[in-house]
Amino acid sequence: MASAAFAVSSPAASAVAARSKARPAYSPPPQLLPILPPGLNISCVTAWWFVDARRCLGEEGARGGRDAAWGSRGRLANYAKNFGRVMMALAVDVSRFEGVPMAPPDPILGVSEAFKADTNDLKLNLGVGAYRTEELQPYVLNVVKKAEKLMLERGENKEYLPIEGLAAFNKATAELLFGADNPVIKQGLVATLQALSGTGSLRLAAAFIQRYFPEAKVIISSPTWGNHKNIFNDARVPWSEYRYYDPKTVGLDFEGMIADIEAAPEGSFVLLHGCAHNPTGIDPTPEQWEKIADVIQEKKHMPFFDVAYQGFASGSLDEDAFSVRLFVKRGMEVFVAQSYSKNLGLYAERIGAINVVCSAPEVADRVKSQLKRLARPMYSNPPIHGAKIVANVVGDPTMFGEWKQEMEQMAGRIKNVRQKLYDSLSAKDKSGKDWSFILRQIGMFSYTGLNKTQSDNMTDKWHVYMTKDGRISLAGLSLAKCDYLADAIIDSFHNVN
Ligand SMILES: Cc1ncc(COP(=O)(O)O)c(C=O)c1O
Repeated sequence: MASAAFAVSSPAASAVAARSKARPAYSPPPQLLPILPPGLNISCVTAWWFVDARRCLGEEGARGGRDAAWGSRGRLANYAKNFGRVMMALAVDVSRFEGVPMAPPDPILGVSEAFKADTNDLKLNLGVGAYRTEELQPYVLNVVKKAEKLMLERGENKEYLPIEGLAAFNKATAELLFGADNPVIKQGLVATLQALSGTGSLRLAAAFIQRYFPEAKVIISSPTWGNHKNIFNDARVPWSEYRYYDPKTVGLDFEGMIADIEAAPEGSFVLLHGCAHNPTGIDPTPEQWEKIADVIQEKKHMPFFDVAYQGFASGSLDEDAFSVRLFVKRGMEVFVAQSYSKNLGLYAERIGAINVVCSAPEVADRVKSQLKRLARPMYSNPPIHGAKIVANVVGDPTMFGEWKQEMEQMAGRIKNVRQKLYDSLSAKDKSGKDWSFILRQIGMFSYTGLNKTQSDNMTDKWHVYMTKDGRISLAGLSLAKCDYLADAIIDSFHNVN
């Protein structure tokens, strides 16, 4: 009841009261409640509370007895604590957000903030997965500039898109993913919804799982992209991990992965990275993908692909879609989230899609209708600019060719840097350590195997900013900086535990 009294005066105070649940709450006399009008000055309530608390404790203490004594002592402590909190809030001019704690910085995006604050000339940002030129500058693809120029010349409008997004984009994105000739496209088996890039697409799918598969759990690789857990947590979808990374080989723990997928409750959603696994850069081989598909099929699990790097891993859109197409070819129902942040460099345009391959066209229609129903109250309809860029680039054979070339160049620059880093490490490290795992990894990241303390040393001593799991983004590295980075890694690996 004390909290009820506070609720009329300040949510801050009710948050304070809510946090004091450990001890039985103090109950003000019911006759006082009606005289506490909404918006009552908090200091009046506090003063009343303090006087009334003393009165109550006095009465209780006077009653005597062991139980009453313990109760009084606990309540006294509780009062003192809460009173201190409320007085503190008053001293700093009460905010209604007193009960809102500071959130920790994002483990990936927070790295960029720390990088910006560092004034050392040698600093290197290998935290966020964003492509940089050899001069370490952000890159807007020429084909994107060309598409944007065309859009301006045509005087295209900014009207709302339908909930499902731009039809031309949805067609283009599904065809890129599955291949234009894929029977699932020809037979209308795919429900495609334009969504807010990879993250938004995953989040929409998570909301769908929560609504229509409330008993199911999602299993995700250990480790995985940091935001996966947040997405499923916020959507209230239970998840657990399957083994993926083997620290001994800095490679794939294939047996562990298969065993854990097999052991998951039948009908689980298995989150798979379509290509260029983030953070490890370790992908299954084509033969291993077949075995993964076998187990998923046997256990009646639902494959759920996250494709954030199509074309960016190998330089080929088709090669990077191999895993998804393999599952689809087996006639399986599949979820696929797509992103154009990396392969078209459209990070801030928030353009991507959620695709659900279904067993029949009418199932796809129903699934799509429900995805739209989920999207409408979340963000109403998606943004148009990125969708038009993708649709224009893919829809024009010349621009499509130019995009593929630029993608190959980006993927090629990352491969060169990967090779040079390996060469520098092998030449400089006289310990005989085998660094060849770096060459076996794929995509924009390398999982160095450095632990948190060693990663801290990379930042504190060498001004190399990276995530604390030992991941570095090679897309943020230049050939010129490879030697410096190799020195930092060797020092951190051999001299820090
Ligand atoms: C594995 C993975 N999935 C999804 C995303 C989502 O990215 P975005 O929301 O920018 O498309 C990323 C981005 O780094 C990623 O690495």
